[in-house]
Parts: sequence; C-alpha cells; structure tokens
Amino acid sequence: MIFLNPTHQNPTGSTLSIEKRNRIIDICSKYGIVIVEDDPYSLIGYDDNYIPSLKSLDSQGLVLYISSLSKILSSGLRIGWISGPQPVIQRIADLKQQLDFGHLTYPNYTLRNYYYHLDSNITLHI
Ligand SMILES: Cc1ncc(COP(=O)(O)O)c(C=O)c1O
Repeated sequence: MIFLNPTHQNPTGSTLSIEKRNRIIDICSKYGIVIVEDDPYSLIGYDDNYIPSLKSLDSQGLVLYISSLSKILSSGLRIGWISGPQPVIQRIADLKQQLDFGHLTYPNYTLRNYYYHLDSNITLHI
C-alpha cells in the first residue's frame, strides 16, 4: 500500500502533475498496489489549477480516497469521508464501529443542519 497526499501536500504544498498521477496509477495497477489518497486540500485550491484526483483516474478500485471538512468548515467537527470499493468500506465501517461505536452524534447533527441551511433540498441521513 502507498499513502499519498498528492494535492497541496502537507508540508511542502507541492502537487503531483497529471503525468505522475497517471504513471502511479499504471504502476500500482500493474503490481496490484493499493493507494490511499489523502486529499483534504484540493477543496481549497483554485479551479484553474485543477488536476484530477488519483481516485478519478482509477478504473480498478485500487484507490481509497479520504478527505475532511477540517480545512473548509471546522476541524472541531472531526468529520471526514472515505470512498472506495464497497467490501473495503464495509470492513472499515465495522472496525470503526468496534473501536468507537461510531462518531459523536452532535457534530453529525451540526453538519446536517449546516448543509440543510445551504440547500434545504438536501437530505442527509445520519
Ligand atoms: C494531509 C493531511 N491529511 C489529513 C489531515 C487531518 O485531517 P483531519 O483534521 O480531518 O483529521 C491533515 C491535517 O492537517 C493533513 O494535513
């Protein structure tokens, strides 16, 4: 497994080019290497510098994509998200349940209300 923070990397601020991203996906596809893409910073980049995530370049389910509300809303909420193949997500969800019985309700409730005020058509299930 490799763990990458490819966009606005902490602490250097550097961003992997699309060529390097494609190369990493090619190599990892060839050797069956899982990638964890830690991407809390693309949400605060400028649109004209947009480079596709590794996740969006992955056609084989190699990439687990993780991000966070810490940089765009509030680090105190301690809320992030993960995207990946369903069986992997299921196992991670089971593990989290065993470790901490799930995230605190109040931050989830706060987030739901925040999004509801942005767009009352949104339905979030907690
Ligand atoms: C690259 C990177 N990933 C993850 C985190 C942590 O995010 P969170 O606050 O959601 O735990 C940070 C925080 O500074 C970070 O720099």
